[in-house]
Amino acid sequence: MSNHPQPGTELLDGVSGEELFSVNMGLTYRDFLVLPGFIDFNPSDVELDTKLSKNISLKRPLMSSPMDTVTESEMAIAQALMGGIGIIHYNNTIEEQLEQVRKVKRFENGFIKDPVLLSPEHTVADLDDVKERHGFSGIPITEDGTANTKLVGIVTNRDVDFEQDRSTKLGKVMTKELITANQGISLKEANDILRTSKKGKLPIVDKQGKLVALICRSDLKKNKEFPHASKDDTKRLRVGAAISTLPESLERVSLLSQIGVDVIIIDSAQGNSSYQIEMIQFIKKTYPAIDVIAGNVVTQGQAANLIAAGADGLRIGMGPGSICITQDTMAVGRAQATAVYKTAHYASKHGVPVIADGGISNIGDIANALAIGASMCMMGSMFAGTKEAPGEYFYENGIRLKRYRGMASLEAMNKGGDKRYFSESQKIKVAQGVSGYVVDKGSVLNLIPYLVQGLKQSFQDMGFRNVTDLHTALRAGRVRFERRTESAQAQGSVHGLYSYTKPSMRVE
Ligand code: IMP
Repeated sequence: MSNHPQPGTELLDGVSGEELFSVNMGLTYRDFLVLPGFIDFNPSDVELDTKLSKNISLKRPLMSSPMDTVTESEMAIAQALMGGIGIIHYNNTIEEQLEQVRKVKRFENGFIKDPVLLSPEHTVADLDDVKERHGFSGIPITEDGTANTKLVGIVTNRDVDFEQDRSTKLGKVMTKELITANQGISLKEANDILRTSKKGKLPIVDKQGKLVALICRSDLKKNKEFPHASKDDTKRLRVGAAISTLPESLERVSLLSQIGVDVIIIDSAQGNSSYQIEMIQFIKKTYPAIDVIAGNVVTQGQAANLIAAGADGLRIGMGPGSICITQDTMAVGRAQATAVYKTAHYASKHGVPVIADGGISNIGDIANALAIGASMCMMGSMFAGTKEAPGEYFYENGIRLKRYRGMASLEAMNKGGDKRYFSESQKIKVAQGVSGYVVDKGSVLNLIPYLVQGLKQSFQDMGFRNVTDLHTALRAGRVRFERRTESAQAQGSVHGLYSYTKPSMRVE
């Protein structure tokens, strides 16, 4: 740190955060750069440990948005395994949201907790259909095709490959002599059984013979270790859930708290409201063990109200989202870098971490958000289009795409997503978001390591080994910035080439 020029010395270059954001003009992440510092460590020495909220620390400053095309259980599991967290959206019934949270809390690496099931009454054609939709074929058979009844068999490709009549009932072709293991078995013991039995699937059953999980031989090879996984005190993965300020949320929170949700995000486009203040106070009083992240806010005044009400974290952003048309439609909002700096500056004095939410499309945006005071970055479009995002892939002009939509797009609002926009279920709905498509980005389990490696290299260039040092230096005026003119921005991007290949975020 001593190798950074100190304030007041002749070598001090650029401007401090305070000076950068003192202009009466909103800045975005593209409008400035961090000046390089001194390097005396490797990227692998950089630690990205950070705070999500007053009481929750994470290993990675990355999280996925509560949007119905971004975060359901599969995304939340992947985010938590990689050291961040996913927030389950609430554009669903209470029971549906609870089920998503439960799946994350029940997750155990290597164990499939809710495998696709069929019954003896299903046909080979039904099995073909499952194979087509899910891409696998070893299906456990239970008495009624649900997890509520006993396991009675298993069907694999080998049982049906030569079956001419696809209307044959599975009960006739399934394998009934099963090798199973009892609930409570460790992954290592299960692996040993699979290895010696040479079977492809190992069903795990409870005392009543009901299926509780499935282990697949093909997954064994893929099983990775996740040393940075975000876990609670009982070693379950962490997960958050979004709620609105509407009265139905009282029931949501009560049930979410019972199944061990780690954090609640009160999801409003403009969070500085009496409804939100009452909701924060209610949750903090009734469920003190749950951290509450409030928002969204973009000014210090808004932040002050929610912090005074008891918020454990703040979500920052009004209008920067890739699918967002709030600023055009409402003429209210703030440029995102200014919003993050101003609110983080205030919140840090109260020990409240802030989340930079929206408008992040590359590693540099993440680095900039952290450099100006954010503790976490929440992303929608970055994680949309991954394997773990809800929705099916499809092709357009030979390109593999997935849907990504704003929660205030007409499409999402018609499904109930307007709860964050105070629309009082009016007949006339004013969209503040759009619906579109993003390209296939592969798996989050590959994308996040790519983001993390890039971020560590960025920290090395800045000359900081961790988020705490970076934030301490920011407050002391030791992180030095420079505004970029439009021509500086043009020069900082690829220019002057006839053609080139953009690096892909799809990491295999
Ligand atoms: P992105 O990462 O730039 O795609 O932005 C995602 C963020 O946009 C979310 O976390 C929300 O804060 C915000 N958002 C989600 N849906 C809408 C919408 O329909 N209009 C405006 N903002 C939205």
